Amino acid sequence: MQVLSPPEQIDFAHNKQLLNRYRFIEYETLRILAAWLPATARMEWKLAMGRLLWEDAQHVQHLYQRLREIQTPAFRPPGDAALEALMAEAIHAPTDADLLGGLFRVIKPALAATYGWHCDQTFANPDAPTLYAFKHILIDEEAQLAWAEEALAEHPPGEWEAYIADLLAAAGGVSGREERPPAPRRPAERRQFELAGEAARDERFELVNRNAGQRVVDPDGETQRLLDFESYSQEMLAAETVAVIIYLSPGMPWAFTYDSARHCYDETRHCKLGIEWLAHHGHDYTEVPQNTRIYAWRTQYDAATQYCLLTMGNETHAFPRRHEQMADYAKTGDRLSAQYVSYDMADERQHVAFGHKWLPRLMEEHGIDRPVEAFVEETVELWKREYSSGTLPLPGESEASANGAH
Ligand SMILES: [Fe+2]
Ligand SMILES: [Fe+2]
Repeated sequence: MQVLSPPEQIDFAHNKQLLNRYRFIEYETLRILAAWLPATARMEWKLAMGRLLWEDAQHVQHLYQRLREIQTPAFRPPGDAALEALMAEAIHAPTDADLLGGLFRVIKPALAATYGWHCDQTFANPDAPTLYAFKHILIDEEAQLAWAEEALAEHPPGEWEAYIADLLAAAGGVSGREERPPAPRRPAERRQFELAGEAARDERFELVNRNAGQRVVDPDGETQRLLDFESYSQEMLAAETVAVIIYLSPGMPWAFTYDSARHCYDETRHCKLGIEWLAHHGHDYTEVPQNTRIYAWRTQYDAATQYCLLTMGNETHAFPRRHEQMADYAKTGDRLSAQYVSYDMADERQHVAFGHKWLPRLMEEHGIDRPVEAFVEETVELWKREYSSGTLPLPGESEASANGAH
């Protein structure tokens, strides 16, 4: 980093070029985290990834708001093949730990350092809005780096992180201004990324694949409350579906990815809310089986159908039960449960609104040209038939084996 240069060396044109690079790195990081959410096994990491990708969406938003003041269109590729190669490669990590190491021990520390350098070098008063953005982004970045240091403490940096560091160097660093050594060779351990067909869970969990959507008949109030919060503790499944939709829809407007990053983060928060409730009541959340068949079932459909199943199926239909819960908790004076469900409902209203707002555009993106209303109606029917019934049929599986538990 050329910290010895005189201050105010970043001029207007250079500023734009740099902001485009940062915006690109933050946006691609968000997409890579979304792509890897289902494939990452450790629940603590999954919960963190929901937050990390939402924070990165905030950073893109800050940079976008500044960029649209100084260039049209606001979103532009960085115009540097080496930087594009770095972010295209970062997804092909051999493991989840390597992926997070590449992002949060190589790319993000360099990005944070460059934000710091930029703060010192830009025209302080004329470019004050950029400085404001950096000041706030850096609060998150520092916390992200601290998180990664602790989360990955048992995972020493290996060949993959060295490869990512060399790719970054070949791009002249985050700023593009450093000397550029030749690009490195791909390491043998590189694994071509493929979207996970199964949602990974760590070894503490049992996976339940059947009867996932069915309700226990007439349980007593306490049992029903436990079931409701056990169900929250599995909402990582919704986060994983939203993450897949983000990853599969790169052509959508930024505002969609921004809303969807929040949607994904919310579902990780609902999962955590279930975990916290269970802990408050003396239960270990890892003893609640995770119905990962829901993910496998939803993933067989295109992204627009998945989005419709989630927002118009699950989320739209969740409210009657939520209102019943609120009434039950009011009766028993169960403040904690009522508070949790109140916040959940506030989020879910947003998710349904996102569904109405984005579904037509997402259908277009995925080549569905049926009228929106008819598509929603058919997809909700599909949801009732396959999800609410608990059958969750998977392709290549006969009806008999899907119902094998009965
Ligand atoms: Fe939720
Ligand atoms: Fe939701």
